[in-house]
Amino acid sequence: MLRDEDSLERRIEKLTRINEALIERIDRADSARGSTYMLFQTAAVLEQEVLARNRDLETALAHLGEINRELALARETADEANRSKSRFLRAASHDLLQPLSAAKLFLSHLAEVATEPLQADLVGRIGNAFDSTEELIKALLEISRLDSVRLDVASERVSLGRLFQKLAVDFHGAAEAKGLDLRFVISSATVMSSPVFLRRIAQNLVSNAIKYTASGRVLVGARREGTDVWLEVHDTGPGIAEEDQERIFNEFERLSPEGETQGTGLGLSIVRRACLRLDHEVALRSSPGKGACFRVRLPLALDVPGAL
Ligand SMILES: Nc1ncnc2c1ncn2[C@@H]1O[C@H](COP(=O)(O)OP(=O)(O)O)[C@@H](O)[C@H]1O
Ligand SMILES: [Mg+2]
Repeated sequence: MLRDEDSLERRIEKLTRINEALIERIDRADSARGSTYMLFQTAAVLEQEVLARNRDLETALAHLGEINRELALARETADEANRSKSRFLRAASHDLLQPLSAAKLFLSHLAEVATEPLQADLVGRIGNAFDSTEELIKALLEISRLDSVRLDVASERVSLGRLFQKLAVDFHGAAEAKGLDLRFVISSATVMSSPVFLRRIAQNLVSNAIKYTASGRVLVGARREGTDVWLEVHDTGPGIAEEDQERIFNEFERLSPEGETQGTGLGLSIVRRACLRLDHEVALRSSPGKGACFRVRLPLALDVPGAL
């Protein structure tokens, strides 16, 4: 502070410093005021920006809603088309089976009178062609049933032991005709599945195992895993290469050359569809030359502890 005893130079020096400090303070205040103004300006610009983005967002959301409505409509149309395709397939397959069974009946009459070897041979061939056609139509009918939303595939208790007994009856003759050793490992497991569809699944797997195995054995068994049980069909056939293991489950996909084995190429696609409807996992373990093991995972019926 200024004192009376200070010299004039000293006073001037002090006053100059005070002056500098004041100017500095004023400068600072000015710049603060400036930045507040800048902030205010920036905020105003930002607010405009936010409003604009909000409007963009609202437009985009409205657009999205419109697209969603269009998608739902397209989906509904596609579902209806699919349903009508299934209905058509079902009706056509059903109607085709009737004249076919009539033709088979006529053929059996013809077989009685066709005594010449050539005639008998032809009758036999026509019979085989009819059988293949019938098999194909029945498979298509089955697929369209499995695709139908109205199909009831409710699960109930199924005894694997009893299923194995029925399969043994179904396939005993076919295995014997090929000299194959068909075996069922006795099982006391009770699972939750559809008796009809589980039997169809197993029939497809066992018939494939017998069809594609030239010699050796086909083994059907059950293996427990936690609260599930795997129904397994092992064979000593040619096996399936890794790269083919997915696609053989597709419709009309066959690995063996045309004419070597008879088949529609629909069996495994029926297995896949039925398993999907029943929520059963299907798995395949195989490598070329080492046979194949097709497996289906089934939930054990809960109130039967230690069912295996
Ligand atoms: N156990 C098996 N061993 C070897 N190949 C198999 C076996 N099961 C199925 N396949 C192959 O998968 C293909 C598809 O089987 P599938 O859908 O049942 O039709 P299909 O038996 O009428 O040909 C068969 O053609 C065959 O090439
Ligand atoms: Mg088959």
